[in-house]
Amino acid sequence: MNDRRLGAIVLAAGLGTRMRSDRPKVLHEIAGRPMIHHVMAMVEALGAHATAVVIGADMDAVAAAVAPHRTAVQAERRGTGHAVLAARALIDGAADDVVVLYGDVPLIRADTVRRLIAARSSGAALAVLGFRPADPSGYGRLILAPGGGLDRIVEQADLGPAEQTVALCNAGAVAADARRLFALLEQLRPNNAQGEYYLTDIVALARAAGDSVAVVEAAAEEVQGVNSRLDLSAVEAVAQRRLRHAAMAAGATLTDPDTVYFSADTRLGRDVTVGPNVVFGRGVTVGDRVEIRAFCHLEETRVADDALIGPFARLRPGAEIGVGAHIGNFVEIKNAVIEAGAKANHLSYVGDAHVGAGANIGAGTITCNYDGVYKWHTEIGARAFIGSNTALVAPVTIGADAMVGAGSVITADVPAGALAFNRAPPTEVADGVARFRERRVKFRERARDKQAKSQS
Ligand code: UD1
Ligand code: MG
Repeated sequence: MNDRRLGAIVLAAGLGTRMRSDRPKVLHEIAGRPMIHHVMAMVEALGAHATAVVIGADMDAVAAAVAPHRTAVQAERRGTGHAVLAARALIDGAADDVVVLYGDVPLIRADTVRRLIAARSSGAALAVLGFRPADPSGYGRLILAPGGGLDRIVEQADLGPAEQTVALCNAGAVAADARRLFALLEQLRPNNAQGEYYLTDIVALARAAGDSVAVVEAAAEEVQGVNSRLDLSAVEAVAQRRLRHAAMAAGATLTDPDTVYFSADTRLGRDVTVGPNVVFGRGVTVGDRVEIRAFCHLEETRVADDALIGPFARLRPGAEIGVGAHIGNFVEIKNAVIEAGAKANHLSYVGDAHVGAGANIGAGTITCNYDGVYKWHTEIGARAFIGSNTALVAPVTIGADAMVGAGSVITADVPAGALAFNRAPPTEVADGVARFRERRVKFRERARDKQAKSQS
């Protein structure tokens, strides 16, 4: 191995005009995580010695998103070559090799970048990553040198007629010797269709100085760039495919993988089964042998081993589902701990609550946690039994082993082991149905008479 220090420069100062967004492009999310985080995670995996993210002057949100990585401000957006120069103070002298990456190419893999760096170090001044997209429009084209290697890169707007058909495109990753890179960048001139300092022009400059430039190819889906919302959806699809494959490789069964949506940080245990149409929002951790049935939506949630979730369950931020607990259809859990073996199987809302081990939450139970001004806590003891269609008006505590009768509105604490209920006693009227119907017939006749009079 060599002991050359690696520097990484990530370009993220562009306006992202084609996104038509108020948000900086690199903060748009792929798999529930800002695009730039995918790139930074990859840079961390590379073990870069020095890192600089180039941002615009008005991009504090991007600086915050990439912290603790350092940022360099490109005050005026004058092109990708100009942007790399903005990072010079952070990288020159701190790195021997440099890799330049684009913040809008989020799915590039560390192994690919390592191949690029290796290709550069075998005698070339630069190494450029290429790929063959199904539709090359918008990408810079790689024009190969007759003797091998790369001759130059031509941007879409500057393509000559003969270059229109070139299929090999610029993926946007460049490896270089640090000193050589900055020397080449100083020679850039904005003499092109867009009047910008193109990073891509350093290839022709290196060639003119008699150097060779290596090309490494990557799979098209790995290096697709995001310039529009359509691109964003295409890259999201690739990210989802990767996450589904990774989940299955790690021991989860996905009944219909194409319909399961993951976040980059979703963690599944072994022998988890996920049914069709399940969405994992950010921050979900699932233990071993959990079954998540069809049509569930989970977000910032922990599910312990052997739990059974769904179908049609919604686990919102702060839901913690204990070992072997059951959360059934049309049950919503928010900011609530459901201890081991507890069950809420049907049509319930449990929010801002703690449900003890083995408790049973009957169908239609609602924790009334919000009084219109404040949120309040509901405490349900171990093995408590909450009858169907109960409203628990928080703050309220149901003791361990207590029982609440169906249809109750509970506004005061129920001691351990007590039975509590409140409901109006039924009124029984003998022959009531026949008498009720007679009354309705008469009522209708009177209503018709009244209408006829008002119209005459
Ligand atoms: C760029 C490449 C093109 C390549 C494509 C790959 C250039 C001139 N063109 O085109 O060859 O095929 O990426 O996806 O490099 N940026 C700055 N400052 C600027 C301009 C851009 O930081 O002044 C950043 C952007 O935030 C973005 C990246 O550089 O992350 C690329 O810029 P973008 O405008 O998206 O270039 P493309 O047209 O995609
Ligand atoms: Mg781009």
